[in-house]
Amino acid sequence: MIGTGTIGIGRSVRRGAGVRAGILTTALLTVTALVALPQSTAHAADTLGAAAAEQGRYFGAAVAANRLGEAQYAATLNTEFNSVTPENEMKWDALEPSRGSFSFGNADRIVNHAQGRGMSVRGHTLVWHSQLPGWVSGLGAADLRSAMNNHITQVMTHYKGKIHSWDVVNEAFQDGGSGARRSSPFQDKLGNGFIEEAFRTARAADPNAKLCYNDYNTDGVNAKSNAVYAMVRDFKARGVPIDCIGLQSHFNPNSPVPSDYQANIQRFADLGVDVQITELDIEGSGTAQATNYGNVVRACLTVTRCTGITVWGIPDKYSWRASGTPLLFDDNYGKKPAYHTVLSALGGSSSGDPGGPGNPGAACTATYTTTEDWGSGYNGQVTIKAGGSRISGWSVNVTLTAPQKVISVWNGTPTWDGSGNVMTVRSSWNGTLEAGASTSFGFTVNRNGNSTPPQLGPCTAS
Ligand code: G3I
Repeated sequence: MIGTGTIGIGRSVRRGAGVRAGILTTALLTVTALVALPQSTAHAADTLGAAAAEQGRYFGAAVAANRLGEAQYAATLNTEFNSVTPENEMKWDALEPSRGSFSFGNADRIVNHAQGRGMSVRGHTLVWHSQLPGWVSGLGAADLRSAMNNHITQVMTHYKGKIHSWDVVNEAFQDGGSGARRSSPFQDKLGNGFIEEAFRTARAADPNAKLCYNDYNTDGVNAKSNAVYAMVRDFKARGVPIDCIGLQSHFNPNSPVPSDYQANIQRFADLGVDVQITELDIEGSGTAQATNYGNVVRACLTVTRCTGITVWGIPDKYSWRASGTPLLFDDNYGKKPAYHTVLSALGGSSSGDPGGPGNPGAACTATYTTTEDWGSGYNGQVTIKAGGSRISGWSVNVTLTAPQKVISVWNGTPTWDGSGNVMTVRSSWNGTLEAGASTSFGFTVNRNGNSTPPQLGPCTAS
């Protein structure tokens, strides 16, 4: 397996237009030789996405378009996740703020970001009573029906072939024990049949997208989930198209992970639909939070048709429940105990991972030299030296000036920020350095007409 090396090589090939063939061949051979050998010992996957993929699942995050330009946000997303859900950008008020006038810009940014990096996309959400523009609520029944079907059709056609799963209808059932549908413009004017109609319209618009019904407080067996269960059973019996159930899974001390979570997932799966955990967050901290996260992941993995997990944000500070610190990364993108428990539950391992909580006392320095220059491009080398104590991993940012492009990296694991100009290189096999010891990584750059030298950020040790 050439896991990390393959990522670096794949990027270099895609970015490689115009490189001198000899240099590229040499660089690729070097990368393959240096990276493939240590990784042939088949270490467990060391990111959430890679570990989930080895289980045949995806591991996603809800993202905001206006955060993609933040280097650490994009780097964490790109490194750890292989699926995204736009947190707000595909809601009705964002996509069709006035009737027939669609505004896809922010949602497109997320979809393009994901597609460029091989991540799948969950579409959230087509028909929902909330974040609904005022003009929709004011329509009469016939007009509302036509507006709903047009919205579904226009949006799904715009993204046809690019969305793995759509939340076609979101949160249509009431809380509490009634099992009734929630009052909404759709329910009140179109009646129970609006859900079926939305799913039929969705299937016609993009036959290859998986069509989900998504809700909260349906995570365990209770009156609300029983009502959803009855609807899904009825849809399957009558051939109404539905492929998946989204269990949002927003948990906190008042709404803990239910003891029958796995049984509930299983009973939906047994109806012949996939189950996706769509908006996971668990308020808390430390070991207690980590244990809850681990239980959720294990429950999903136990059910074959539980096909993926999405956490509702990346760092705690951007969560809709930020004060409850419900996510896997802290405000500085440090990996929380819950992160390590999730990775481990997915069969991955943080051992040797330089991005872990780290050793705050450890230190390193990074220095840059150009080792070869052929005018249109150059080879750079960064030497990493441990300070007065042993380190077990390192990372450093290299910033290029557009339109320069890195076409190859060796002896380090690169990720890029949203702009494509800031490359974070982390140690791969060469993370452990005794006090005072050094190692180096190299990279090849196509100048594309710009001669600004690369800027090196500080070395971060762990
Ligand atoms: O972008 C504007 C900003 O310009 C303005 O200054 C600010 C002032 O309030 O509002 C910002 O928009 C907010 C938006 O989040 C982006 O941060 C909205 O007010 C706020 O209502 C919106 O909240 C979102 C919420 O859905 C709306 O119902 C949350 O981010 C989002 O996480 C949350 O997600 C929902 C799922 O879609 C469905 N399931 C429950 C889940 C959590 O509530």
